[in-house]
Amino acid sequence: MKRSDNKKGNSAKDERLVPVIDIQGLREGINGTQAEGVELVLVKREKEISVFYGKCLHADALLAGGFLDGDFLTCGSHLWRYNLKKRGT
Ligand code: FES
Repeated sequence: MKRSDNKKGNSAKDERLVPVIDIQGLREGINGTQAEGVELVLVKREKEISVFYGKCLHADALLAGGFLDGDFLTCGSHLWRYNLKKRGT
């Protein structure tokens, strides 16, 4: 079975991909959006785009209300920081 096949033998690619935002409309910096009811935050810096779960792990504040500080996205509520260069927390 190819990696892209699901149990029915069809390509699972179309079933798993969800449109999030029009990349042409993505502005430099922090962009908040939702996909199927899930909050997301997209950070565009020059040609690099990072995507994170949009709620802070501390107390669920929207990270779209935070700010950028070097390679970190900082939550605006209590200043927890998320490294844009690392996977995970
Ligand atoms: S909710 Fe983000 S730091 Fe507290």
